[in-house]
Amino acid sequence: MARFYITTPIYYLNDRPHIGHAYTTVAADVAARWRRMQGEDVRFLTGTDEHGQKVMQAAAARGLSPQAHCDELSAAFRALWERLNIRYDDYIRTTDERHKAVVRACLQGLHDKGELYQAPYSGWYSTAAERFWTEEELVDGKCPDSGKPVEWVTEHNWFFRMSAWQPKLLAWINENPSCIQPESRRNEVLGFLAKPINDLCISRPASRLPWGIPLPFDENYTTYVWFDALTNYISALGGPGTEDFARFWPADYHLVGKDILTFHTVYWFSMLLAQGITPPAAVYAHGWWLVEGRKMSKSLGNVVAPDVLIDAYGVDAVRYFLMREIPFGADGEFYHASFLTRYNADLANDLGNLAHRALSMSGKWLGGQVQAAGPQAGTDAALWALAEQSTATFGAEIRKLQFREALEALFSLIGAGNKYLDTEGPWTLNKNGDHARLGTVLRNVLEVCRIAASHLSCVCPAKSAELLAKLGCSAPDLSPRLDRLPTGQAVEAGEPLF
Ligand code: ME8
Ligand code: MG
Repeated sequence: MARFYITTPIYYLNDRPHIGHAYTTVAADVAARWRRMQGEDVRFLTGTDEHGQKVMQAAAARGLSPQAHCDELSAAFRALWERLNIRYDDYIRTTDERHKAVVRACLQGLHDKGELYQAPYSGWYSTAAERFWTEEELVDGKCPDSGKPVEWVTEHNWFFRMSAWQPKLLAWINENPSCIQPESRRNEVLGFLAKPINDLCISRPASRLPWGIPLPFDENYTTYVWFDALTNYISALGGPGTEDFARFWPADYHLVGKDILTFHTVYWFSMLLAQGITPPAAVYAHGWWLVEGRKMSKSLGNVVAPDVLIDAYGVDAVRYFLMREIPFGADGEFYHASFLTRYNADLANDLGNLAHRALSMSGKWLGGQVQAAGPQAGTDAALWALAEQSTATFGAEIRKLQFREALEALFSLIGAGNKYLDTEGPWTLNKNGDHARLGTVLRNVLEVCRIAASHLSCVCPAKSAELLAKLGCSAPDLSPRLDRLPTGQAVEAGEPLF
């Protein structure tokens, strides 16, 4: 059986989740749901990044212990995933004992191999980004990521000989062209690797940062939060040598935002190569949701709260919009007006109307039952062909994480269904008493609804189930054929879908 392992970043617990976090998580959920429908053995992992200075400071600001703060915020993330209908298979917290054990084992292994050494280190440290920057990387003397002030920090620390792995890392990326996607991001990483890279500082003095995992071979130090966090992708499987690890590693996709591309390629791939572990098949870095041209982010305080949108339009409208609006990889502005347009044009008008028309005409004229498929006539053949073609495109595009293209293909079929109704004119057939042809025409459109609902069930699970129930179906059926619904099956229009 094909197996599929997909992950999201583990999110920092310094604030509540926003649309940006929902974006990556919904994308992973859509891909995972689609693979499950294909009968694949799926593992979908998400979780929270709970150590480090940023989280420690957020807890202190609220007068809470870091653990109490994390327990509360981690629950807020899980509550949102519940509302958003995210079906993850595993949820990792870096404060989990199972995670800490694997991080310690990885560090000890690298130490035993002579991959770690101690040295003094100075640099510009950004608490917001949890990392050191070089002088040249600063923008106006501030952190290039967050725009927040940086401080000059000198400390004795532990280092990973990352620079020694640069040639192997380059060779890996060159020999595995799809390991960084999209292509433009791969070129970005290759550009970065054209210059020599530094060794990676993997510790912080415990006196300055007690909140984290102590180095197993030197308790005076806490593990650097990124070394800790990246290891989640293997610790959740139990780590090397376990059954789940053998089953799911290497991951098929790490989905990340472009903000954390370097960590997931340069750092993570080198960490794995040094441990003799195969890097993931692909890191896919998507773009940013922007508000007035700037990245939507907790530190900038310009976030769109998912709960507000869900309250107003329902969870499936939010999931649909996120997947449909921008190509996966590009940035996009968040406008409430575009959200509304998508909702009305695609969901309410195209899909909602198609279903409502076909179902209510079936109810009015055909006793609410699917009729036998008669001989093909009129524009039937074109509709059959388009069903075949658009569903094939849908599946192929979802496999490549091209959600927008997949939905475009499916909605071209929905649009064609509406046009088919206008062309074939069931109202005229009914008036003329041509019940055989009327039955065929309405069946064809009900089948298009069944195909749309079945495929959409990975994007809009609740609305799809609702539509399938109206069609009398208890489960999705992905066949593109227009003769699948059992003749005589009861269908019911009920309330409009949207
Ligand atoms: O970076 N647009 O956590 P984080 C699109 N803990 N996606 C966005 C976004 C936006 N405006 N804002 C956030 C961390 N995201 C680390 C990760 S992984 C081993 C450790 C999404 O809470 C996107 O996936 O800052 C981005 O990469 C992630 O949230 C960053 O979440
Ligand atoms: Mg961030």
